[in-house]
Amino acid sequence: MAALPAGFGMPEFDLTEDQRALQEMARKFARSVMAPRAAECDRKGLFPEDIYRKGWELGLMNLNVPSEYGGSGLSLFDQCMIVEELAYGCGGMTTSIIANCLALEPILLGGTEDQRRSVLTPFCREYQMASFCLTEPGGGSDAGGLQTLARKDGDSYVVSGEKCFITNAPHAKLFTVFTTVDPALRHKGITAFYVPRDTEGIVPGKDEEKMGHRASSTSTVRFENVRIPVSQRLGAEGDGFSVAMRTLDMTRTPIGALATGIGQAALDHAAAYSLQRRSFGKPIGEHQAIQMKLARMATLLHASRLLTRHAARLIDGGQNATLESSMAKSFASDAAMEVTDEAIQIFGGYGYMKEYPVEKLHRDAKLTQIYEGSNEIQRIVIARELLKKYQH
Ligand code: CAA
Repeated sequence: MAALPAGFGMPEFDLTEDQRALQEMARKFARSVMAPRAAECDRKGLFPEDIYRKGWELGLMNLNVPSEYGGSGLSLFDQCMIVEELAYGCGGMTTSIIANCLALEPILLGGTEDQRRSVLTPFCREYQMASFCLTEPGGGSDAGGLQTLARKDGDSYVVSGEKCFITNAPHAKLFTVFTTVDPALRHKGITAFYVPRDTEGIVPGKDEEKMGHRASSTSTVRFENVRIPVSQRLGAEGDGFSVAMRTLDMTRTPIGALATGIGQAALDHAAAYSLQRRSFGKPIGEHQAIQMKLARMATLLHASRLLTRHAARLIDGGQNATLESSMAKSFASDAAMEVTDEAIQIFGGYGYMKEYPVEKLHRDAKLTQIYEGSNEIQRIVIARELLKKYQH
């Protein structure tokens, strides 16, 4: 893979010294540790555990967990800043690194103080992975229609069902799982739990062969009559849907940042290439056809970054940002698809070859339009939130 170009240095928000140091640390890790291994992990579908462990050592893993429980305790704005940097190095590795944030957020939002302390503190003390189990084979977008059943039996629930597309599941030590106590109740029956991996009856499937994000690991998880104590329930019966939705409100914004990082890498590669590749007697970057592309790519990325950071700022300020986080996620991921596609076009035939970095970026960008709620779902959320504002 070609060396990473320097990038064009878009002016930043007013970052504090601490934020700049954080950004620099993530940038260095992404470019010197993640990026050099990205092509190989992508080609071979390797899960680079040593890199994830190093990420944990640097405090890049449990970004959203408050420091009192052993996490990094970062604002969402800072999380987004870091995620963008990491994704510049490798989108797939970044997905695995931030999957803990997704899996642990339900405990932060739905857990009692006692649960947060007793689960998160030991979890964060060592390098460990956690998985968020919401999606099911029978329907990903219709979270309210999930079928994994939790049957109350004395002081515990017996959980049976299957989850799919679960990031890091083969490696996870802890799962948050969304079940229903009665499918007929739809979202009002959804009930969330945390459950350690060593609980009997939890069976992760084999690693899926994916189009992109191949340094990340994804599998099904079967729950075969898994007995989960009532004490591991997050909130009351029926609170689970709200916990899931509020979790996704928090985690969709960093997906916007992840998409922006992938897109920025594509733009940097394409712009650098356009200055060195010559046609018709001059660098292709001097042809207007290429300049139009570069201008649009840079503008899309700038807008993605602003939308993402704006949503993060709102959430950090304690405001509801369901609409803004869906806007950030869907816009930035669509932008990443367009930007990486145009980067391939600028590279021409070379862009289509695996020897060059941009085809991987395009494959990685694709997932950002699908996971954490497809962009069609985001647009439903945006429209519903928007229309609320017009009602009395
Ligand atoms: N915050 C709090 N409450 C919310 C909410 C939110 N953001 N959104 C909805 N609710 C509440 C509603 O107010 C409503 O409450 P009441 O019962 O009190 O009225 C209730 O939840 C039901 O809401 P809806 O009627 O809107 O529910 P719906 O069935 O129409 O579904 C949906 C809404 C937005 C489509 C939802 O199902 C959804 O987000 N689906 C996508 C799921 C998703 O993102 N999955 C990704 C999984 S993670 C992943 O990708 C894996 C990975 O490893 C990366």
